[in-house]
Amino acid sequence: MSRGVWYRYRDLLPLTDATPLISLGEGDTPLVRSRYLAVEVGCKELYYKLEGCNPTGSFKDRGMVVAVAKALESGSTAIICASTGNTSASAAAYGAHSGLRTIVLVPRGSVATGKLAQAIAHGAQVLTVDGNFDQALELVRALSATYPITLVNSLNPHRLQGQKTAAFEIVDDLGGAPDYLFIPVGNAGNITAYWMGFCQYHELGKSPNRPAMMGFQAAGAAPLVRGAPISEPQTIATAIRIGKPANWQGAVAARDESGGAIDAVTDEEILAAYKLMASREGIFCEPASAACVAGLLKCARGGVDFRSKRVVCVITGTGLKEPELAVRHAGVPLQNVSRDLGEVERALRLAVPLFRER
Ligand code: F0G
Repeated sequence: MSRGVWYRYRDLLPLTDATPLISLGEGDTPLVRSRYLAVEVGCKELYYKLEGCNPTGSFKDRGMVVAVAKALESGSTAIICASTGNTSASAAAYGAHSGLRTIVLVPRGSVATGKLAQAIAHGAQVLTVDGNFDQALELVRALSATYPITLVNSLNPHRLQGQKTAAFEIVDDLGGAPDYLFIPVGNAGNITAYWMGFCQYHELGKSPNRPAMMGFQAAGAAPLVRGAPISEPQTIATAIRIGKPANWQGAVAARDESGGAIDAVTDEEILAAYKLMASREGIFCEPASAACVAGLLKCARGGVDFRSKRVVCVITGTGLKEPELAVRHAGVPLQNVSRDLGEVERALRLAVPLFRER
């Protein structure tokens, strides 16, 4: 039976005897070694933490399971969040699993279809807001302050507690922290949670080192890089289309305390990395996830020497949430053929039939 994030790290999570240990099998995600990009960027060791392998297809499940369990423990009967899509999918799934009323507010017109489908399928009440994520977040903050509804955005500290377990897993898998952690940044909860996890493991003597935290935002939605909120954030990576990150201070602290950086990558760089990940590494990820890979490529181009370095990129979500984007950018039209073997051979440009049954 799957016991999720609770099992391995129960002593480091905010558990009491009254916390219900719900689970949909979150956590324990693969750390996959790069075969292609490691060579391209001249990196000694490069790994991808595949958070798209979580039950709802993103890293959000690690934190949601803890936030929902604590909501149940406190007697709450309803949860609410604003979301660019993944948080709402996760909240809806754990809400359904736990019999909680789930309310999600998403920016109208900029949420991947798969994410919306998840929220709807799990029975959440979905409101599309005429506004962006930051405005939706203001609304749910106001609602959760007025009504007995638990806010499960990353402002809820239990979310970050659950999400820090990914840092523990990386250290446990590698026998230490990497030199660099590359991670996409939107509302800035995840970079805050990872840094918390690496610091906690270091203090406990479970990791000899801590990584430099390398956060990447989309160029059209890079308030942390600019140093001021952005009122109309824009990017193809809708998951990180955020102009006023709720965990601003946490991200800045992670960057400064770790000796890392927070930088921006353009939509073109994000799309190029998204395609590279799928076509060269065999990893179909979200555009938002590809932002950190684009960041790694940018650093390598900018002269950062990774030759003796161990690097981890956090692949935060699966590309399956937005299949139409992949099809649109594939650049190769689908080719239809009849059932005639000759036609199929010609379509495949096979000069000589490779194999023919007698
Ligand atoms: N990658 C993906 C796939 C995401 O869905 C998000 C955030 C991030 C990266 C950035 O993480 O916000 O902790 O800095 N998605 C949120 C949502 C905002 O509503 O699903 P962050």
